[in-house]
Amino acid sequence: KKLRAIVPATTANLGAGFDTFGLALSLYNEFEVEEHDGVVIETIPDNPFLKTPEKNLFVQVLKYACERRGKTFHGAKVKQITNVPVARGLGSSATAIVAAILISATVSKVELTDDLFFEIAYRFEPHPDNLLPAWKGGFITALLQNKKTYYQHIDFPQDIKAVVVIPDFELSTEKARAVLPEKISLKDGVFNVQRASLFISALVNKQYDILKIAMDDRFHQPYRKKLIPGFDEVISNALEAGALGASLSGAGPTVLALAIEKFDDIGKAMIEGFEKHSIKADYKVLEVDK
Ligand code: HSE
Repeated sequence: KKLRAIVPATTANLGAGFDTFGLALSLYNEFEVEEHDGVVIETIPDNPFLKTPEKNLFVQVLKYACERRGKTFHGAKVKQITNVPVARGLGSSATAIVAAILISATVSKVELTDDLFFEIAYRFEPHPDNLLPAWKGGFITALLQNKKTYYQHIDFPQDIKAVVVIPDFELSTEKARAVLPEKISLKDGVFNVQRASLFISALVNKQYDILKIAMDDRFHQPYRKKLIPGFDEVISNALEAGALGASLSGAGPTVLALAIEKFDDIGKAMIEGFEKHSIKADYKVLEVDK
């Protein structure tokens, strides 16, 4: 019997909501599993790295989920269809983790509670702002405190789309976190709290003209942009071309713009920003995954 999980890409932070906000997007990774002795992995498109069981996160999570139930993992035949680009700030690892947890819960016929989900998921990635929207869909605000995760889902306006501009280089979350400062000033703290609060209020009240201010950030983008040639220009080009707001997607290097119109103009303008700095990029216009 084949089991299948389809899990969306996610964009975390959305500017001021560093380590807090996450949004699921209409770009999906698919994972299909059959019982099998030994691990066999088929990848579409072909990816030698993902075909190595020890390096395949989906297989590693499946194995862990099986072993924590006291069972021996005998293997699996896995078909992995990857549409979410890897190490670009679009939550590709979260898709593998969430898919493996969903499938293992089905196999073992257990109810997938929050406690069970996080117990497994956090062994592999500590970011609820990616994991939760990948699991639940939509827009989520989350925090992790004393091993407990608190989160809320709020309706994201369906008329807003995401233009994601994906440069052709990888950036690991580890590297993008290593450049962050240990401490930030009270002034910057206030700056972000004000904007993150305004972001939520603007969504709830559909006051889209505020998003531009609300998506500014002083916690991570000023530091991470050193790793992303052209970042400032890509953001300002997005806004000039008609985006409501723009930010780094997750830990980057993808840049996200939110918009209700002119999606292609915005995507092209953002690509030009990267090209000025000799970086090739592609854009996609995505909906919010509910
Ligand atoms: N909030 C996390 C970060 C997301 O920005 O580092 C990592 O995917």
